[in-house]
Amino acid sequence: MQAAVRAPAAPWREVLQRALKANEACRHSRYVQLATVRPDGRPANRTIVYRGQLEGDSDVLTFVTDSRSRKIEEIAQSPWGEVAWYFPDTREQLRLLGRLTVVDSATADTRLQQGRQAAWRNMSNAGRLQFLWPQPGESRGDESLFSPAPPTASDPVLDTFCLLCLDVEEVDHIQLAPVSLRHMYPPSGQHKSTVIMLHGLGDSGIGWAFLPKLLAEDLPHTQWVLPNAAVRRISRFGGQSSTAWFDILPAAGADTQQDAAGMKDTLSYVEHLLEQQAAAGVPSSQVVIGGFSQGGAMALLALRSERQLAGVLALSAFMPLTGEQPLFSEANAQTPTLMTHGNADQVILLERAQRSVAGLTKPGFEFKMYPGLAHAVRDDLVDDIRAFLTAQLSF
Ligand SMILES: Cc1cc2nc3c(=O)[nH]c(=O)nc-3n(C[C@H](O)[C@H](O)[C@H](O)COP(=O)(O)O)c2cc1C
Repeated sequence: MQAAVRAPAAPWREVLQRALKANEACRHSRYVQLATVRPDGRPANRTIVYRGQLEGDSDVLTFVTDSRSRKIEEIAQSPWGEVAWYFPDTREQLRLLGRLTVVDSATADTRLQQGRQAAWRNMSNAGRLQFLWPQPGESRGDESLFSPAPPTASDPVLDTFCLLCLDVEEVDHIQLAPVSLRHMYPPSGQHKSTVIMLHGLGDSGIGWAFLPKLLAEDLPHTQWVLPNAAVRRISRFGGQSSTAWFDILPAAGADTQQDAAGMKDTLSYVEHLLEQQAAAGVPSSQVVIGGFSQGGAMALLALRSERQLAGVLALSAFMPLTGEQPLFSEANAQTPTLMTHGNADQVILLERAQRSVAGLTKPGFEFKMYPGLAHAVRDDLVDDIRAFLTAQLSF
């Protein structure tokens, strides 16, 4: 395990501490699923108990395990492991990916060995006793072998007792309540800027998780927030239910036929997300609002917010509510805005997108057309998104 220089407060640690505290009444909240890779490349998964952060390195989560268990061989072949944690009281999932280190009696590193000793002392007698049990996986045979006098905290640590350390590198957080939301934390652990990305009709935040992964190296200090829209009935589609940021009325297209109330509700929600970011130390001027299709329309509407944004990115979208001037607030008069659209888009026609911003004259506004692109994303567009976001968010 490398003794990396750490940021003083990677945001996910706080999320984990808060979740553990909020769920402490539930005795299962320390049970996690740990996945490893078998030597044949297949996945292996099991429940283990979280034992706290490694003393002196709070990016390292600790567990204990038996040197005779299968996972030891798996970790020797591939150190990668992922823990999935579900906190029932707060309805959130944390997935933490990183490298695993097995600390056994032969480990020379003093800090790790001290961590192993501390974990041994902190076990219950019954917990320590399991490490005296006969070989796991074999038939139980003589039952008396399972109930010798249990080792105590002051007894020497048994050779079978291992500390398992997960050095966390990637964190993914999904909250199902009160608002469904997914956070992807900055790879550097330092949160300086944020992209709030609003998905399109019928999609969900997870649908856009590919983008932070593609841009992780370019935006090491950026947190991504991928909210999920509520499910609502879409009038245009005979009342069929779909995730949507606003309703689509039967004569959609004309400005007077847009769900202004739904759009404004969503804008208030975006403002709430901006407030949360400000509370976490990232002002709106360091936040880009992005979106695809309906989500892009909402991103463009966010130009009317009184909070100054770092940028607005609208993919395959249109400017909504153009009858309500001005189309941007004073605070966002200079906000860099990139609108992208394919000329093969049959869902929102290029002409409609262009018409919707015909009256938008503001510095920093760019409309980029992609020949042959449908209502979708492709590599050259991702390159332009990368360039736009790195230009706005490189503090
Ligand atoms: C509630 C519960 C808690 C467990 N806690 C641990 C633990 O802390 N460490 C551990 O190695 N195995 C623990 N186990 C057993 C593992 O799930 C698994 O069976 C064992 O580690 C062998 O896994 P392997 O063959 O994949 O290495 C626990 C099982 C349950 C049901």
